[in-house]
Amino acid sequence: MTATRPQPRPGVLDIAPYVPGKSTAPGVKKVHKLSSNETPLGPSARAMAAYRAAGDYLHDYPDGSAHALRDAIGEAFGLDPARIVCGAGSDDLLNLLARAYLKDGDEAIHTTHGFLVYPIATMGTGAKPVAAPETNFTADVDAILKCVTPRTKMVFLANPNNPTGTYVPFDEVKRLHSGLPPHVLLILDAAYAEYVQRNDYEAGIELVATSENVVMTRTFSKIHGLAALRLGWMYGPANVVDAVNRVRGPFNVNGPAIAAGIAAIRDAAHVESAREYNSHWLGWITDELGKLGLKVTPSVANFVLIHFPDEKTAHDVNAFLMKRGIIVRQVGAYKLPSALRMSVGTEDANRLTIKSLAEFLGTSA
Ligand SMILES: Cc1ncc(COP(=O)(O)O)c(C=O)c1O
Repeated sequence: MTATRPQPRPGVLDIAPYVPGKSTAPGVKKVHKLSSNETPLGPSARAMAAYRAAGDYLHDYPDGSAHALRDAIGEAFGLDPARIVCGAGSDDLLNLLARAYLKDGDEAIHTTHGFLVYPIATMGTGAKPVAAPETNFTADVDAILKCVTPRTKMVFLANPNNPTGTYVPFDEVKRLHSGLPPHVLLILDAAYAEYVQRNDYEAGIELVATSENVVMTRTFSKIHGLAALRLGWMYGPANVVDAVNRVRGPFNVNGPAIAAGIAAIRDAAHVESAREYNSHWLGWITDELGKLGLKVTPSVANFVLIHFPDEKTAHDVNAFLMKRGIIVRQVGAYKLPSALRMSVGTEDANRLTIKSLAEFLGTSA
């Protein structure tokens, strides 16, 4: 039968739309937003100055290949700029990779509590997302490899993962890669890489440099504090870079974002102080939550996953915090209905959250 109105491709209307972290708390004046893993330190002063200066050129199209930004990233990481593609956030790149490599009937693997953009990007192409079980809220290489079928075309691995904050050591990532057929694209999403302080972690650069089927994605939204500008980048083999460049919008990254990104990537001191700040407060928050008797998944990123006995308690805690202006993230959509995710915030926000949780536990005891 002929449809009476345009029909999206099969699968599109099955996508559960991504719900971003909340940013308002009704009836509360002072809000502490700890729901989107943003940095409490903001961007580098140099990045802000570059952004403002770019405001004089809003009538000009940006450089569609973001050449100067790719050069700056290449210089910062010792990479060939020709193997870098920039995007409007790493979301853009994850979607472009899916669009370039997936079609109806294909399968793309992600992990049970993996970042939600993976199934969304997959279903947008008509392909099927396949969730590999995790062990202790951590991606499990053997479980991922068990999900591989002749239809598998892509594996998404957030390392570290959001919302769990856990990571997969480099040896395990290499074992995952060597267990995959060469036509399967392994995407290492390293949005939180800068925060990780572990000797056995590697964001993916080495593996990309030596393979034809591995891509690493990175973002300026987290440690660089440029989430509003929407800026990310990927480093990939020449064959993948070529495919992504064919499907991306010709001006997918805007001029002010390019200018701010160049300044941000060159401001190593700002990144270092953000890393130190995070490391201190991540440790403090984790310890304080432990003292309150709460179960926390050990995190290497800029947020923690806090577990409550059941879904109702998580819901009540969320409402209790919200009344005090503290907005954390409910993670039911990540199959974690009895947990809440809290970003590392300002000192005030961190202390107030711990104090409020203590109050909640005191009143509910
Ligand atoms: C694991 C992970 N990957 C990618 C992103 C997307 O970041 P953006 O599109 O802002 O670069 C996020 C954002 O929360 C994330 O948590």
